[in-house]
Amino acid sequence: MSGNRVLEKLIILDYLLDRSEWGVRELSWETGFSIDKVKSVLKDLSKNYLIELDSSKVIWNPADNPSTLKPWGWRLIHKLVVGSTQEVAKGYGPWSIVVSEYQIMGRGRYGRKWFSSLGGLWFTLSLSLNSSEASLLPIAVPVILTKVLNKQFNVETRIKWPNDIVVKEGKLAGILVEAEAFPDKFIVYVGVGVNVNNEPRLEEAVSLKHLLGGLVPRNKLLATVVGWFSNIRRVLEDRERLVRDYMDSLDTLHRRVVLDTVDGVVEGVVVNVRSDGAIVLETESGEVVYEPSSVYRVRYVEET
Ligand code: BTN
Repeated sequence: MSGNRVLEKLIILDYLLDRSEWGVRELSWETGFSIDKVKSVLKDLSKNYLIELDSSKVIWNPADNPSTLKPWGWRLIHKLVVGSTQEVAKGYGPWSIVVSEYQIMGRGRYGRKWFSSLGGLWFTLSLSLNSSEASLLPIAVPVILTKVLNKQFNVETRIKWPNDIVVKEGKLAGILVEAEAFPDKFIVYVGVGVNVNNEPRLEEAVSLKHLLGGLVPRNKLLATVVGWFSNIRRVLEDRERLVRDYMDSLDTLHRRVVLDTVDGVVEGVVVNVRSDGAIVLETESGEVVYEPSSVYRVRYVEET
């Protein structure tokens, strides 16, 4: 899609962020676009947003607009465009949520780029936790997301180690957990990207829209995830249960994999994942253990 088209969509979306209903003529006056242009941009936007358009007006379903959410106890910041929500979140205190419609420099794990096109759900939650609580987050976040997605949308999501959320090996969501250490606490930035109504750019990715055959209002998903994080200390108290839930949803367990690691390429069968998130592999030369930060890529080896 041309850069100009993205810009046109962002200009119109900017008006809808604060007011869900507009006359087409009004939008034409505000933006300086012709009425036909406004209509064609809105028509395109309605492929990725719950936007209804008739001949004279447009309504963006408030259930799809994060600006309408007021999660109790949290500060929600909804932006149209940012570099990365991970960076924006650092400017607000803990217990904030930064959501953005579009990220120009969305980040994935290992410094990879995360493509964040219109219609996805891209957000960062910032939390204040002690070190033992923070250490469990890499397994707690994928557990929470799989539970919420499975229950709410009746899809069967699984976890691909360390924390990709997949449906039949297609990536539905990614998680990036980063932390700042202070003498008495950690401020943790939990970045979550869910392919909801966007068109994922990578072939191996899937979106809820494609899985379910229609657009999904994003606020229920966001509100439910935030609800879990309102209770996060309680969730993190039960380490055993978390590990059990993580292992139950782990697609990678007992699979033969090839890992691209800091030590080179390693092949073996996954026999365990420790509560700190490290993977244990049975290789020809014995057991090896790798932390998520020392593995760049996980590939499944199809057994014959
Ligand atoms: C991965 O699978 O590599 C992690 C992807 C995490 C993407 C999310 S989108 C919201 C937040 N902001 C970012 O820049 N990245 C995370």
